[in-house]
Amino acid sequence: MSQPAASRPAAGQPAAGHAAAGHAAGWFRGAFGAAPDGAWVAPGRVNLIGEHTDYNEGFVLPFALSRGTLAVAGRRADDLLEVRSRQVSGGTAAIGAGALAPGSVTGWAAYPAGVVWAMRAAGYPVGGVSMVIDSDVPRGAGLSSSAALECAVALALSDLHGLEVPRSELVLIAQRAENDFVGVPCGIMDQSASLLCQPGHALLLDCRTSESAAVPFDPAAAGLDLLVIDTGARRELADGDYAGRRGECEHAARELGLRSLRDVTDVAELARLADPVLRRRATHVVTDNQRVIEVAALLRAGRLGEAGALLTASHTSLRDDFEISWPEADVTVAAAAGGGALGARMIGGGFGGSVIALVPAAGSAGVRAAIRAEFGRRDWPPPRFLDAMPSASAHRVLGPPG
Ligand code: GLA
Repeated sequence: MSQPAASRPAAGQPAAGHAAAGHAAGWFRGAFGAAPDGAWVAPGRVNLIGEHTDYNEGFVLPFALSRGTLAVAGRRADDLLEVRSRQVSGGTAAIGAGALAPGSVTGWAAYPAGVVWAMRAAGYPVGGVSMVIDSDVPRGAGLSSSAALECAVALALSDLHGLEVPRSELVLIAQRAENDFVGVPCGIMDQSASLLCQPGHALLLDCRTSESAAVPFDPAAAGLDLLVIDTGARRELADGDYAGRRGECEHAARELGLRSLRDVTDVAELARLADPVLRRRATHVVTDNQRVIEVAALLRAGRLGEAGALLTASHTSLRDDFEISWPEADVTVAAAAGGGALGARMIGGGFGGSVIALVPAAGSAGVRAAIRAEFGRRDWPPPRFLDAMPSASAHRVLGPPG
């Protein structure tokens, strides 16, 4: 099959879509015996700073990865939803879109099914769809493979049915799918990153107002590298720790008589919290919100190198106050610092996944070697180093432009 013009690679766009789009029609035909109507890709994300701040109505600063999830889709004459994955066995049996309800689909297929359900719940007439999913976002690595899947499906459904749903609404639909259909009480960061980021920029998002701004983020131009290090440790978000931290934050806000921890303007106010655990959790959220604003200001001023210390301060706060770091992350952060990094921190929900390290480009190989050596010393499987080019948000890669 010849490669469609729309699928030619472009700088800063998710690789999965472009590398795979040429094959997508073939996969779809193999699975469903017909040509697809199109293919859509949505990226995973790296969060530069602002962790566990989104559901506290605070600030975050993610950027889109060059890795993404591809949804190859075709409309059906009936109202059935049928989804297959190229990575994972199982999927939906053909199930009526109108019969979807939380709990009716389990496993990875709950994510795409949840998006169909959430679109319909929002009043959009989504009918039968066949889909093949392909992804190069590692699962459980703190890089938002779930949101990439939700957002690829959400954009595919919107385009396939000619609905022209605004992206800001697709963000909420994808989040609702995860909250209410899959049952993970995530915030709004990951879906926003996947649907709203721009190449060469991070996204400064106010999670209270949903106002966002693209902030230039170009480590290479500053003579720096942002390493993304998948530590290999895994913990799924659905297992209760995430919800537990969220509950503690909401408890702290209630104790303070506030709508959310966003409303704490001075960390000294937290002395009013009698419970030392709640005080520590809230201290992390309040200080990380401040760090997001400071890092965004440094990026805008072209002083990225000075953000390193703030990244490390965020890690210390996540490790000691929020208590969601894990041994491989702490070792990676320490080894990066020892090897000459300007700063490093764990990213994502915690308890497993990835670390980022900001390093002078000339010292990048040395920092990698220092991290590998520390893993080797402990007989841990070697970490994986991933590209971190700030990339495009979700878009169509096959078929007429969306
Ligand atoms: C996960 C959630 C996000 C956010 C981060 C922590 O990625 O999906 O909403 O809360 O954890 O910052």
